[in-house]
Amino acid sequence: MSERDNKPVLVTGGCGFIGCNLADRLAERGDRVLLLDNLARDGVRENAQWLKSRHGDRVTITVADIREPIPVIDAVREARAVLHLAAQVAVTDSVTDPVADFEINARGTLNVLEALRLHNSTAPVIFASTNKVYGRLIDDGEIALTGRRYAPTGNGLAGGISENAALDFYSPYGCSKGTADQYVHDYARVFGLQTVVMRMSCIYGPRQFGTEDQGWIAYFLLSAIRGNPLTIYGDGHQVRDALHVSDAVSAWLAALDHIALTRGRVFNLGGGPANAISLLELIDGITDLTGRKMTYRFADWRPGDQPWYVSDTRALSTTLGWAPQIFLADGLRSLHSWLDGRFGSSQDNREALA
Ligand SMILES: NC(=O)c1ccc[n+]([C@@H]2O[C@H](COP(=O)([O-])OP(=O)(O)OC[C@H]3O[C@@H](n4cnc5c(N)ncnc54)[C@H](O)[C@@H]3O)[C@@H](O)[C@H]2O)c1
Repeated sequence: MSERDNKPVLVTGGCGFIGCNLADRLAERGDRVLLLDNLARDGVRENAQWLKSRHGDRVTITVADIREPIPVIDAVREARAVLHLAAQVAVTDSVTDPVADFEINARGTLNVLEALRLHNSTAPVIFASTNKVYGRLIDDGEIALTGRRYAPTGNGLAGGISENAALDFYSPYGCSKGTADQYVHDYARVFGLQTVVMRMSCIYGPRQFGTEDQGWIAYFLLSAIRGNPLTIYGDGHQVRDALHVSDAVSAWLAALDHIALTRGRVFNLGGGPANAISLLELIDGITDLTGRKMTYRFADWRPGDQPWYVSDTRALSTTLGWAPQIFLADGLRSLHSWLDGRFGSSQDNREALA
């Protein structure tokens, strides 16, 4: 194996939900993986232990903060590629503390880019951006209620939202991630870095410790398992396209492995129109899955919440031949069974996430 091949792939936020699934797949196929994570999120220590128990020395974990330039430089310098996912992930927390949100998401990303520019400028970097960069997208007059969900009234959006949609950062989280998204994109143009932006919609799957503030599919399932009532912010008809994390990982690794095709590009990544679901439809689906009715109440819409967002993933399919393999109904069943195994049986386990 050449020295280049032997260098690790750096995954920032690698103990988080998507990061640990990426790290697992990389290690499984023989890559060395270096994780940089400050373990800020509840539950992610368990992901770190899970990775170590599965892959031993193939996985190295540096506990550090993306806001600190020195450990970021040290990690970036030795990497053959960087997958940048470390972030403050909740819109709600960004509203409570916009400065911390900016420092982690915007400044932290600039730390990664500068480390690459100055110390490892040929290594590819893929950034975890978000559909929130597109803002609300649709006015009330452009959507109508169809059954238990909103749908756009014009035909133009049947295939979903493409990368050409206008940017309209909404909420401090939208602004900080959008800023980072634009820096990552621009460092390809101005400095010639090999960068890719993945604007992700709702990703779900095993090792996701969903809370009311982020990771709603896992949170709804977990609430059903625990018999807890839900609060629905808005009217519950809002729609997202959901993508199983295994399919998200495949898209990220395809983008990395074909960097000559993807460098300098921005892609929307989600389940697409075939995997779109509203909040109320998800509750119906969970009721069918568990045989138990969920109780819920309504509260005001939260800032930046889009009434309808579905990704158009045709750019990814055309460039990389990628398509989701796991349909939502199957993905929900498997996430329910993972969460039930992890949190459903003993009181100790229930308390671990409280
Ligand atoms: N899950 C989704 O549906 C989704 C959708 C769009 C975009 N994203 C983006 O994907 C990325 C991963 O999301 P996730 O769902 O896996 O979230 P997650 O919270 O599970 O993972 C984020 C990780 O970053 C770490 N982290 C937080 N602050 C840090 C800091 N200052 N320094 C170092 N590490 C830090 C956390 O400890 C955690 O392990 C994030 O950038 C998020 O904005 C996620």
